[in-house]
Amino acid sequence: MSKDNIIITDMGSSASNQHSDKPVLCLGIESSCDETSAAIIDSDKNILAHIIYSQIPEHQKYGGVVPELAARAHILAIDEIIKLTLERANKNIKDIDVIAATAGPGLIGGVLVGWMAATGIADATKKPLIAVNHLEGHALVPRLKSTSASDSATDINVEFPYLLMLASGGHCQILLVRGVGKYELIGQTLDDSAGEAFDKVAKMLGLGYPGGPIVDKRAKEGNTKRFKFPRPLCDKPGCDFSFSGIKTAARILLDKTEETLRDDKFINDFCASFQASVVDCIINRLTNALHDEHVVSAAPKTLVVAGGVAKNSAIRDAMEKLACKFNMEFAAPPMSLCTDNGAMIAWAGLENYKIGNIVKEPVAPRPRWPLTEL
Ligand code: KG4
Ligand code: ZN
Repeated sequence: MSKDNIIITDMGSSASNQHSDKPVLCLGIESSCDETSAAIIDSDKNILAHIIYSQIPEHQKYGGVVPELAARAHILAIDEIIKLTLERANKNIKDIDVIAATAGPGLIGGVLVGWMAATGIADATKKPLIAVNHLEGHALVPRLKSTSASDSATDINVEFPYLLMLASGGHCQILLVRGVGKYELIGQTLDDSAGEAFDKVAKMLGLGYPGGPIVDKRAKEGNTKRFKFPRPLCDKPGCDFSFSGIKTAARILLDKTEETLRDDKFINDFCASFQASVVDCIINRLTNALHDEHVVSAAPKTLVVAGGVAKNSAIRDAMEKLACKFNMEFAAPPMSLCTDNGAMIAWAGLENYKIGNIVKEPVAPRPRWPLTEL
């Protein structure tokens, strides 16, 4: 495990609580993809420690995550990351009240590593254990911390019900979030996820992995109107997505352009035009969702974006404008809580603990685990 790839996003043990009723302390563990992460947070929303060990450099040369390598890297990192997290929070494992870990969905080798570590700690310390659905981690973390797109200093309190755009590397869904464990699927992708589209287009352009942040950066310098990308399904009713047509259009456009002509300006304009099509699709589908009878009758007050793709500033800005049009508030987690992280698992652990959703019999981690099956 290279220490260069460790990101610390907490404020250290000085953030420890000064509350009179003792808040509940939760250790959360995430290992479902290419981040080994642990966090200790309390029920007053203080992040006492949060460490993310990114394996991205280990997978970069393969152009994507290699599951076997990821599982092995999790095994090598997990004990050290948990130990460092406890040290940064200035806590002993006995001080922790609840242990939470991702139990799916995700790459099963990695999920097993984090889940078995959590099970071992919970068994040894006799503490309650929470099996967290990774997607629920993304879905609930805006309630731990959220900002608006235009002002990252505002702290928005996200209450149920809310309309959620969940966009990550593996998922792309619009959900009505009514409460912990209460998710109604309003729309979803019929093929690729939004994150996958970003990653694949970046790969075609030879920009590296993961593609989302690189395309986002290049798009900021580019012309959104230079290339024509399709807006799949946008002329149809409903809230489902399709991104594979955009990906094919990218391939065709690239094949028509000689490699020598693909200069920086070409790449920036290509990224900007591609990203604009993804943004338009998201806004079109969300607009339909906000007119959907079922959603209207639930009257969500907040439009929320979460998942790795929520880091995209064009998507955040467009969604904030849409929320404004519908007289809704807009909320997004801070950048450090969008991509996979242990704090979102610890927070989802605390939210489940509050409603008594603790593990009572052995849990088998699941590679597939839709939110609608909670
Ligand atoms: O939530 P996440 O960390 O992992 C999954 O649960 O899948 O999301 C990772 C995805 C990747 O596809 C990555 O390219 C994308 O999030 N991503 C972005 C940005 N930052 C990360 N996509 C668009 N713009 C970004 N700034
Ligand atoms: Zn994720």
